[in-house]
Amino acid sequence: MNTTQKYYIKTFGCQMNVYDSHRIAHILDSLGYEAASSTRNADIIIFNTCHIREKAAEKVFSDLGRALLIKKERAAEGKDTIIGVTGCVVQAEDEQIAVRAPYVDFATGPLTYHRLPEILEKVKRARGESIIDTEFPAESKFDFLPENKSSGGCSFLAIQEGCNNFCTYCVVPYTRGVETSRSVEEVISEARHLVNSGSVELNLLGQNVNSYHGTDQNGQERSLAYLLRKLAEIDGLKRIRYTTSYPADMTDELIACHKDLPQLMPYLHLPVQSGSDKILKAMNRRHSRDDYLRTIEKLYAANPALRMSSDFIVGFPGETDEDFEQTLDIVKRVGYIQAFSFKYSKRPGTPASLMPDQVEEKIKQQRLDILQDLLSSYQLKFNEETIGKTMPVLFEFKGRHSGQLVGRTPYMQNVHVNIGKEYLNRIVDIKITEATVNSLTGIYPAETQSKKG
Ligand code: 5AD
Ligand code: SF4
Repeated sequence: MNTTQKYYIKTFGCQMNVYDSHRIAHILDSLGYEAASSTRNADIIIFNTCHIREKAAEKVFSDLGRALLIKKERAAEGKDTIIGVTGCVVQAEDEQIAVRAPYVDFATGPLTYHRLPEILEKVKRARGESIIDTEFPAESKFDFLPENKSSGGCSFLAIQEGCNNFCTYCVVPYTRGVETSRSVEEVISEARHLVNSGSVELNLLGQNVNSYHGTDQNGQERSLAYLLRKLAEIDGLKRIRYTTSYPADMTDELIACHKDLPQLMPYLHLPVQSGSDKILKAMNRRHSRDDYLRTIEKLYAANPALRMSSDFIVGFPGETDEDFEQTLDIVKRVGYIQAFSFKYSKRPGTPASLMPDQVEEKIKQQRLDILQDLLSSYQLKFNEETIGKTMPVLFEFKGRHSGQLVGRTPYMQNVHVNIGKEYLNRIVDIKITEATVNSLTGIYPAETQSKKG
């Protein structure tokens, strides 16, 4: 009989949470657990949660309800199930969890999940009582985690965490704490390890990644630009990305990296949030629309092949039709090739939630629809322009159809190709043949037609 204990992790929210889930899995692997294929056959079910908008946070509670049913069904079969919650909802709503889901066995915030081995020990001893850890710890979790393992050709690497910007709508400074950066040495060593174990692309993560200020061996603070140049020296590392950047922290030194480093992909996520100066001010963003547009100009001058993506919030308190027009205008000026757009969501404890002139839901929805139509038209146009071109594609996972792989171009476009699975985790030249808003289709070998005969 196989008695190995199994775990299942469901991840909500941003790429940082995807990274954290991966690291939580490493901890459980190191304790002898194995990944389960579903919650039904898991001895530990973990929800790694997101608190950024109300919808995401609420979803966790319905998922927890379903997990309780599974726990009961398994109990009837004589099996124990531990239910855990990690991530930002825990940091912000630990009391709510205790009230609304008292059956949760443990809850730990995004900065303390390295304590999971002790937490699980406590859970086993204290059956029935929830173990909740929402401390902002003095220690860095990174000093306690098992070595990061490559997750294929493309891996995430957290280099910075937390945020000091306090945009008035955002919970991140409260859930992920103040900004901290990992040391240059720690990042380089994790990067080397990931590359040696098969990654050809690294995506450096941080809530405000371009304000990175890790120390080097001599204790000197170093910038993201410095770190990128060091990473570019790693043999075998073919692609580097970094996300998410704050516009006011795009220094000239960092922009120059986009000119000098061929490994740096020509795609940058630089959220503007709104095109209106009045709203940007109310959001406490440290950039005006002109500052932002000037930064983009400099980036395009550094690398003319560079293309942008952004996040947008519509219906921020006080946003008028004119303010919204300014947002549409900035979309037209920059021509984003991808974007994420959201209706403003009131978050407890944030200054914007108390602002007057909250925008009606109906208007928020109308503005979101208009914005998303415009964004999609630019995205489709860009995708269609790639038809007939040959692009280097890094294959990351198997497609829905057999014999098909899905990969990404330098611009993060998904490409579906009929190609052997031996090409998984490799970068291959692919000729693009079809395009929709969300994905491309390509053929391999790229020179199929021209070689014939
Ligand atoms: N309401 C709506 N969107 C939000 N975001 C952050 N906080 C909120 C909120 N309260 C969006 C921002 C951010 C992205 C990760 O989520 O656009 O860049
Ligand atoms: Fe939130 Fe603003 Fe910090 Fe981004 S920069 S994490 S939106 S507070």
